[in-house]
Amino acid sequence: MPVITVKHLTKSYQTQKKREGLAGSLRDLVNPIYEDKIAINDISFSIEPGELVGFIGPNGAGKTTTLKTLSGLLYPTSGTVRVLDQDPWERKDSFLRSISLVMGQKNQLWWDLPASESFSLNRDIYSIPDNVYKRNLKTLVEMLDLGSVLDVQVRKLSLGQRMKAELVAALLHDPKVLFLDEPTIGLDVTMQSQVREFIKTYNRTHDGAIMLTSHYMADVVELCKRVIIISEGSILYDGELSGVISKFSSHKIIEVILQDGTTKTYKVPRSKIAEKTAKLIADLPISDINIKEVAIEDIIRQVFAKK
Ligand SMILES: Nc1ncnc2c1ncn2[C@@H]1O[C@H](COP(=O)(O)OP(=O)(O)OP(=O)(O)O)[C@@H](O)[C@H]1O
Ligand SMILES: [Mg+2]
Repeated sequence: MPVITVKHLTKSYQTQKKREGLAGSLRDLVNPIYEDKIAINDISFSIEPGELVGFIGPNGAGKTTTLKTLSGLLYPTSGTVRVLDQDPWERKDSFLRSISLVMGQKNQLWWDLPASESFSLNRDIYSIPDNVYKRNLKTLVEMLDLGSVLDVQVRKLSLGQRMKAELVAALLHDPKVLFLDEPTIGLDVTMQSQVREFIKTYNRTHDGAIMLTSHYMADVVELCKRVIIISEGSILYDGELSGVISKFSSHKIIEVILQDGTTKTYKVPRSKIAEKTAKLIADLPISDINIKEVAIEDIIRQVFAKK
């Protein structure tokens, strides 16, 4: 049975439409006009136990809105959402104990307290048994190498240390389902790969499911076999990451290295590769030749640009 099932989910936000000028502002106060903005438009997908799915798309595509709806923070406008066979919006205790939403852009720890205090607060909120709490805390802190900063005020931590502490806080209760919304945003390369490694291990050792959004393609390429691409509230692609290349890239790259050591590259339609290769070999003093796929980053950039 899937861990997450989303059917025809639509979510619109009601926003206030502003009238022009001072008189308009006054009228807005007395008689506001509202309009609906559709953030996600009829999306459907399901996620099986053990999956780590990349949920990617340009700014404003609807990723955070989807993750918030799946966590029960937002009520769907229409359609149905089931997570661990529950309706997230009911926010039952048993549901909240089995999920976690981590937002890289938002601080969920107490700013003026050391992280360790936020952790014990979460122990109480989730009524985590003492032995489980101790075990999880130890494992998480070791994996993320956070031991030396647990008693430092959160406001004094570096961005990467804070993000790791956010992860610890979010995972102490052993959630089965994780929604990770840009967990590596703003981190340096080393921290990014540490957090990535951590996510990979968590996924391997827990048979729930993880949905991950990121604007860094390296995260997606490293972690996700499957991606769901969303743009302007609609799903453009749902399948293997490797399939993105064949579906969206009409071209391959031929790279030739000439005998004088210089390199030339040609972007060639898939159907013309053999022909073009033969012609290059006949025409040029070539010492080596490579045929490469367009980088996945570039393809996804193209897909987004087209929309
Ligand atoms: N609270 C809100 N009220 C009104 N509109 C909103 C609200 N939150 C988001 N939106 C709009 O809904 C759309 C989807 O936003 P969302 O935050 O889900 O995008 P996203 O894919 O997470 O983007 P990003 O990559 O920038 O984080 C955007 O057009 C956004 O402006
Ligand atoms: Mg977002």
